[in-house]
Amino acid sequence: MKTGSVNMGRETQQFESELLSFWNRRDAHAICVHSCTAALLLAIQVCGIGTGDEVLVPTLTFVATFQAVKACGAVPVPCDVTDDGFINLSDAARRLTNRTKAIIPVLYAGCDSGISDVYWFAKVNNLAVIEDAAHCFGDETISSRDGIMCFSFDPIKNISCGDGGCILTSDSDIAKKLMDMRLLGVIGDTERRYSGQRSWDFDVTEQGWRLHMNDIAATIGRTQLARFPQIRERRQRSSRMYMETLSTISDIQLFPINTETAVPHIFPIIVKNGARDELRKFLMAANIETGVQYKPNHLLSYFNMGYDLPNAVRLYESMLSLPLHPLLSEDDVQYVIDAVFKFFTK
Ligand SMILES: Cc1ncc(COP(=O)(O)O)c(C=O)c1O
Repeated sequence: MKTGSVNMGRETQQFESELLSFWNRRDAHAICVHSCTAALLLAIQVCGIGTGDEVLVPTLTFVATFQAVKACGAVPVPCDVTDDGFINLSDAARRLTNRTKAIIPVLYAGCDSGISDVYWFAKVNNLAVIEDAAHCFGDETISSRDGIMCFSFDPIKNISCGDGGCILTSDSDIAKKLMDMRLLGVIGDTERRYSGQRSWDFDVTEQGWRLHMNDIAATIGRTQLARFPQIRERRQRSSRMYMETLSTISDIQLFPINTETAVPHIFPIIVKNGARDELRKFLMAANIETGVQYKPNHLLSYFNMGYDLPNAVRLYESMLSLPLHPLLSEDDVQYVIDAVFKFFTK
């Protein structure tokens, strides 16, 4: 507040620079925006995707991924998922048409085991790849990839700006376009703002949006980034405790989260034998709040295309996200684990 700069300026520039150092990606560009939804929208648009085009999206994702496609005038085509919650490429192949222009793999719960197949599939079918990495901040194996990656810094993500997001790309032309597009398409506005100037005489040559990150959000992001080592340690510790103990319960199936490299944002489990709702009620009675992430998008009226995606629905009906955030102590996590064990041994 004391700098007098509350809109986009030096703090945002500094945050972008610190993110690139954190990712060890000085070869690339970080473009900070208002949210991951904004990042996805801009990334889709910068790939030249618009009205009438189709984009393959796993149905098991937050509605933001679907809305970002729709906001560009394109059609999000829901695809089924594998047991890991990853886009099922056999199903995606069935949904290809001559209007398909891109695929958005969502790295659900930080799982990216099928990602090299996605790049292969995209190459063969001439599609752009935009990675929805909203769940993945802090996983270096993901940020070292050479694609277009979209991250979220919303209130519950691994780091938060209040609301915020970032696109990571190594393509300088794409980065330059994105920098203009996030500021209403005003050519060169980012560069001028970063040198403390304003744009009075400018040109606009394409659709832009007011989706940049402001300096207040960037300042919060910088503070969070400085705290990230503790955040990482806490999230990984809690996830490891869940993994090690819950893997012994035969009625639970775990997602293949690599707790060495991933910094899990959510910890979903699959509860077998139709016991999910009963377990959820049991945990709630012990003051343990859980979630269901997510309702598949093809079940929403706006995105329903009239076909079934059975595996996503099977996961949706049996999944439960256990508490996971950096303020959980070991005792808190143990309390949750004990309650889950109690449920299955009662
Ligand atoms: C998979 C996924 N994609 C996109 C988003 C949107 O992120 P944001 O809230 O930063 O717009 C979210 C947010 O929860 C998400 O989980």
